[in-house]
Amino acid sequence: MAQQRMNVQAPIERLLARRWSSRSFAAEKAVTPEQVAACLEAARWAPSCFGAQPWRFIVADRFRDEPSWQQLLATLAPKNRHWAQHAPVLIVTVCDPLFAHNGLENRWAEYDAGQAAISLCLQAESLGLCCHQMGGFDAASLRTALQIPEPLHIMSVTALGHAGDSTTLEAELQSIEHAARARKPLSELVHHGVWGTPYAPPQAAGWEARYQETAVEQLPWFHTGLDDDIARGIDALALTDGAALDLGCGPGTQAVALAQRGFQVTASDVSWSAIEAARSLAEAEGVCIEFHVDNLLESTLSGPFDLVVDRGVFHCFADQENRQTYLETIRRLMKPGAILLLKCFHKSELSEIGPPGRYDEADIRGFFAAGFDIIDISNSHFGPTLCSEAPKALFCMLKRRS
Ligand SMILES: Cc1cc2nc3c(=O)[nH]c(=O)nc-3n(C[C@H](O)[C@H](O)[C@H](O)COP(=O)(O)O)c2cc1C
Repeated sequence: MAQQRMNVQAPIERLLARRWSSRSFAAEKAVTPEQVAACLEAARWAPSCFGAQPWRFIVADRFRDEPSWQQLLATLAPKNRHWAQHAPVLIVTVCDPLFAHNGLENRWAEYDAGQAAISLCLQAESLGLCCHQMGGFDAASLRTALQIPEPLHIMSVTALGHAGDSTTLEAELQSIEHAARARKPLSELVHHGVWGTPYAPPQAAGWEARYQETAVEQLPWFHTGLDDDIARGIDALALTDGAALDLGCGPGTQAVALAQRGFQVTASDVSWSAIEAARSLAEAEGVCIEFHVDNLLESTLSGPFDLVVDRGVFHCFADQENRQTYLETIRRLMKPGAILLLKCFHKSELSEIGPPGRYDEADIRGFFAAGFDIIDISNSHFGPTLCSEAPKALFCMLKRRS
């Protein structure tokens, strides 16, 4: 299971971005009692009006008490039962509509139960589990079967378990499962100052805007795996392992390829959305990569790295001051003797679209003279990419001087 693409209007905490309501659960994989307890404990610490904690939960675990679980499953709407039958744990959320301290109506009870429920879901997510809340159930039979007294309100049933293989779902569920996730825009959901004045979030700019607006596969620099010259360079230098930094990793295809070759990869990009896409790819490919949202001009990365691969950051800096910061930062991040594989637009590439910095061999030799030995500089191309003609590039292999 992999979470489907979502467009954010502002970068958000990863746990929140990762949570979603999947319909595929691994039926054979139990959730441990400790994991269930952690989810319930997270819910216990939710805020509530007057601190009344009006929520209550009923847990049914197929691996520990199958009859109770079956009884609860049977009350779900057929469409929900169809996929929820694979969830090993079902949790009913109910709430007490009366304040315990005075017996008066608690009109925030359902609101508070919702807060507890999302805390439970987020804790599950942080434990690598999946949750899917449901309102589709037969409340009367659920009340009878589970002996829930009046006046408690039955709010939801939450399916909890491990992610399953979504490709085994039937076609209709698969198409829902694999659809892009959408939300109303903030301007529709939020008013500014008074009702009726739509809120306008700050517009994403620069790289973040590019990644928010366009699916990564449609970006001109998208390329699956390593460019041929980078792969050849790694082979020629007999680099097989060590700490590698993929600078400006974008959608993560190159970082994943480096990890698959045996490097311990750190990948950075200035765009949060790019990092999210890269993380999803790494998860789908089953490789472990450390990701950072980082602006190289104010970098908080710490090395040292044996290898730095830059396929498109250096040529974004057309002015000397930024190039100088780049050089100092790269040197700080690299071990003495470490390799920098740098790919940038060639000066002879005249297309209007593309980075502001375009260089020839003499430029590169000049820029890097102070701190690097040049191993090789060759004419090359970016790609293959979506561009009809692969942009002309310089491929440079440099070694950090001690
Ligand atoms: C109170 C509540 C009731 C829901 N009921 C159902 C349901 O009966 N069946 C279902 O498949 N999903 C149900 N959902 C899941 C929503 O459809 C889902 O949260 C929503 O589409 C947003 O998708 P996401 O959770 O993946 O972001 C419910 C969610 C909530 C919070």
